[in-house]
Amino acid sequence: MSERNLILAIETSCDETSAAVIENGTTILSNVVASQIESHKRFGGVVPEVASRHHVEQITLIIEAAMLDATVSFEELSAVAVTEGPGLVGALLVGVHAAKAIAFAHSLPLIGVHHIAGHIYANQLIKPLQYPLMSLVVSGGHTELVYMEAEGEFQIIGETRDDAVGEAYDKVARTLGLPYPGGPHIDKLAMNAVESVDLPRAWLEADSFDFSFSGLKSAVINKVHNEKQKGREIDPAHLARGFQESVIDVLVTKTLRAIEKFPSKQLLLAGGVAANKGLRQRLEQEFKQSKTELIIPPLSLCTDNAAMIGAAASIKLKQQSFSNYALNGNPGLDLEQS
Ligand code: KG4
Ligand code: ZN
Repeated sequence: MSERNLILAIETSCDETSAAVIENGTTILSNVVASQIESHKRFGGVVPEVASRHHVEQITLIIEAAMLDATVSFEELSAVAVTEGPGLVGALLVGVHAAKAIAFAHSLPLIGVHHIAGHIYANQLIKPLQYPLMSLVVSGGHTELVYMEAEGEFQIIGETRDDAVGEAYDKVARTLGLPYPGGPHIDKLAMNAVESVDLPRAWLEADSFDFSFSGLKSAVINKVHNEKQKGREIDPAHLARGFQESVIDVLVTKTLRAIEKFPSKQLLLAGGVAANKGLRQRLEQEFKQSKTELIIPPLSLCTDNAAMIGAAASIKLKQQSFSNYALNGNPGLDLEQS
């Protein structure tokens, strides 16, 4: 891209209110994230109404902070981008309305972005992307292998049939009495554990790239209950390690098989669970000798943030693929159609 473009991006799909300014789809000028985790912790999960209310309180301040951090004026912007879906509808609507208001007030093009496209394009903020590529998407709501032959073209070749991997982490963490969100706590326990409880792996059919984590989650819950009934206590660290080993084994094995079938120049890791230490280490080890280049975003770009939405929006800006004022929060937005 020869000309400089600046996108103001907004993300409010779940429990983070975030705004960012991105230059040419690759450079972060600002990325402000206000997390609501503290408010949701005592409920053991995200409460949609509480999330929406926090977004309403925060959104203007966060956008102002992002513009100030970037030292950019609204007149200099090329477009306003916002997460259109999937996510919590009330939460999405706050971002969508803010984006529409700014687009209208400053006569800017409006760009609706799929949240998962954002997670994938977070990698473009690290390195130039080369197609065809494969992306392993692991978040609180999604577990998918996404093949991309070209920019902005998403083909889901495998996905979870039940729980998303992050969801399984959070539920297992709750069983082990760990705070929400449980993923980082399980990760820490697992990485420091000396022993591992043997747990099943759901491979599904031999040629399937789909995933299933609910059986594994139930296996952990059953182990805890069975031991309790026998008057024994199982070490949570050993369980955490067994759980994490099973998850990583399945994710990495299926990813390697997917790359064999769909030749890929790069493998991108994406989504909140990409912050997982065990997963990052195992992938780094597996891809050391590989012809496929592994890209893993830093922790700040793994969990929800608006910078990734700006990066994904830059492709739509290039293609002049804009939304109109009928843009709405869409909890069921399809990645392949987005
Ligand atoms: O992508 P994300 O921020 O939100 C969604 O779009 O869903 O992902 C949040 C998920 C939560 O389930 C959280 O427990 C998980 O990412 N997570 C982790 C780690 N850090 C965050 N899971 C495993 N290990 C981690 N270190
Ligand atoms: Zn996310």
